[in-house]
Amino acid sequence: MSVAAVLVAAGSGERLGYGMPKALVSLAGRTILDRAIEAFAGHPELAELVVAAPAGSVETIASTVAAGCRLPCAVVPGGASRTESVRRGLAALGDRPEFVLVHDAARPLVPARLISDVVAALRNGADAVIPVLPVADTVKRVADDLVLATVDRTELRRVQTPQGFRTAILRAAYAAAPELVATDDAGVVEAHGVKVRTVAGDEAAFKITTPYDLRLAELLVSSR
Ligand code: CTP
Ligand code: MG
Repeated sequence: MSVAAVLVAAGSGERLGYGMPKALVSLAGRTILDRAIEAFAGHPELAELVVAAPAGSVETIASTVAAGCRLPCAVVPGGASRTESVRRGLAALGDRPEFVLVHDAARPLVPARLISDVVAALRNGADAVIPVLPVADTVKRVADDLVLATVDRTELRRVQTPQGFRTAILRAAYAAAPELVATDDAGVVEAHGVKVRTVAGDEAAFKITTPYDLRLAELLVSSR
């Protein structure tokens, strides 16, 4: 029962503000994308990898990926939304992988342990698995500068990637909702009536969104 990964890397990185796709920004000497690819291509569970890349960088990325990837690795152009990039990545995936992990390239420091835990939950029979973390801050609902209510945070979770799926189920869920734009892949299978399980996430799998996050990632890499 083999495992594939789709890395979505086609975003423009507006909030990081480097004027170039976030995946191509350097994180302590290597691009964010290179580090994300290494986390998956170097994992013993992985059999196949597809990268959804920024449209203008597909050829450059394909040549570096071909040089560094020990598995079947494909690079395809991503789409205008994350959802569309996942669709294109899934379309490029072979028929054999029983399981697929969908991962934000913007989470390059994902630990091998987290990838292993998601795969283990799939092997134990889950159709869909997401890594989650508790919410530490108090959460309130507001309108403009006025507080409307305090939300009970005990059952709230922050959701990370990689999110793991039985490949046929993720494909069916995406096919059933061709217009749906979701903020994560579990949302697509939830809309399809599939039960989603959780495993403990890891702070190291945080998403690089702002310059502060990039600085944090640089400090973490340099302190290894
Ligand atoms: N992504 C993608 N295709 C898109 C949009 C996003 O593949 N059209 C990917 C990003 O490359 C990233 C992940 O989805 O790995 C999470 O998205 P986000 O952190 O929002 O990245 P960006 O969209 O690049 O950043 P921003 O929203 O600040 O522009
Ligand atoms: Mg975005």
